[in-house]
Order: sequence, then C-alpha cells, then structure tokens
Amino acid sequence: MLGLFDSGLGGLTVLRAVRAMLPDEEIVFLADQAHVPYGDRSEEELVELLHANIAWLEGAGADAIVMACNTSCAVAQRHGWPPSRVRILDLIESAALAVMRRGIRNVAVIATAATVRTGAYGSALRAREPGMQVAEIAAPALVPLVEAGDIESDRARRAVAEVCEGVPADCEAVLLACTHFPVLDAHFAAALGPKIARIDPALVQAERAVALAIEAGSARGNGGTRCVTTGDGARFAEQLAMMLGPDPSRTSEAVRLEYGKDRTAR
Ligand code: DGL
Repeated sequence: MLGLFDSGLGGLTVLRAVRAMLPDEEIVFLADQAHVPYGDRSEEELVELLHANIAWLEGAGADAIVMACNTSCAVAQRHGWPPSRVRILDLIESAALAVMRRGIRNVAVIATAATVRTGAYGSALRAREPGMQVAEIAAPALVPLVEAGDIESDRARRAVAEVCEGVPADCEAVLLACTHFPVLDAHFAAALGPKIARIDPALVQAERAVALAIEAGSARGNGGTRCVTTGDGARFAEQLAMMLGPDPSRTSEAVRLEYGKDRTAR
C-alpha cells in the first residue's frame, strides 16, 4: 500500500497521476485540511506536521510514501527527513528530474511562500545544473482559492495572472511547484501564453512511484483508495467527488491527528 499526503486537495493531482499508473495499488491519501495552507506556516510547525503525517501513514499500513506536498519536501530538505521504516519519494527530486529531462536551463518556480523561503528548489536545480537560472516566486493567494473550490472564477483567473506577472519574459518553463496549482492550469496557460511551458512534477513522481511500489512489493492490491482528512469529513467527501468524480472503490473519512503541540484548525 502506498501512502500520500498533502495539506489538502492539491495532493489529489498527485493521487490522480499515481492512480493512472497503478490501477491495482491500494492507496491511502491523507489531507491535513485542519492545517491548510501549509505555505503560511513556520518551518518549526511544518517539521512537526511532516513528522506527524509520515507517522500516521506508517501506522495506516503504508509500505512506501509518495510525497504529494512540495512545502513539506522543501522543509525536509533543510531540516532532514524524519526517520522512517519505509521509503519516501521526494517530490522536489521528481520536479528537478522533469526540468532536466526537457533540457530547460531557465525556469520560474511558482510555489508557496514557505517553499520559496527555504530556497529548496533553487538548490535542487542548481545542484543538477550549475548554470541553471531559477526565479522562485511565492503565490500565497492560490491555495485558498483551490480549497474553496473557487477555480473557474474570474477572481481565480486574475490571481493567477498576477502571479505570472513575476515570471521573467525569457524563461522557458514554469514549474508548478505546489500540488494545488495544476488545478488552475487553464489560467496559467492563458496567462503565460504558448512560449512558456508548464511542468507538473506529479507526472514524474507517479512514474517513480511505480518503481517504488514494485520495490516495496505492494504493486498488486484491490485498487482501493482510502481518503482521510483532518478537517470536515462531509465537506471532504463532496470535494473528492467534485475533483475526482465518482468512484465506488474510494472511501473517505475524517480523523484527528496527534501533533507534538496542539495546533488545531484556525
Ligand atoms: N500543496 C502543497 C504544496 O505542494 C501545500 C500548499 C499549502 O498548504 O500551502 O506545497
């Protein structure tokens, strides 16, 4: 069984990609909606949430963890990954791989404020290609729009357009470095135009998840998806249906997680 987590609905973009590649795999997906948006939180809190989420997935029976949250990966890059008995697939590594494969040398990374603060993307990309030009752009307004289901509105379009104003005109591609952002891809496409490619790291992450599932010996299962939120269970079920469509092999429920300190929903 593979475990995935994110602060919320963004992780569904990774879940969808992984599910397409591994139709029989059992998957447990944790959305920590009690603490979304992660991008506005301190590194100390994010480290605590990373540890708790990984421990929860291990406890739920995950044989390997496929990261579906860039912000958590960025924080892990600075502070280290929690010790775990299972392998953890880093999303930033997959994103960097996606950029390298396309031979891109000038990229804009659009991410949460917390991710940008760590500089993790710049470091990961320059470690692979020292001459790489990387512009890191924080987009704190976008995650709340996706969580609220405000995706097709003019407000969402304008919010994305505003973020894209910061993209250097000579860059070859934009890395959608928060898993919530591919949900707004149509707005990115309209704002960036045809000359700037958009890269969703979920595709390479899913490809690497296949190898990981085989290694973990878990690639065959009943194809069930257990979706869990730390937020409102009824609302989550509606959000899942809206974003993924109906699926009889999917269940959803709410859980309460124990964190180091009691950081409940705002
Ligand atoms: N979707 C997450 C990411 O990839 C976190 C977004 C947030 O909660 O701010 O970074």
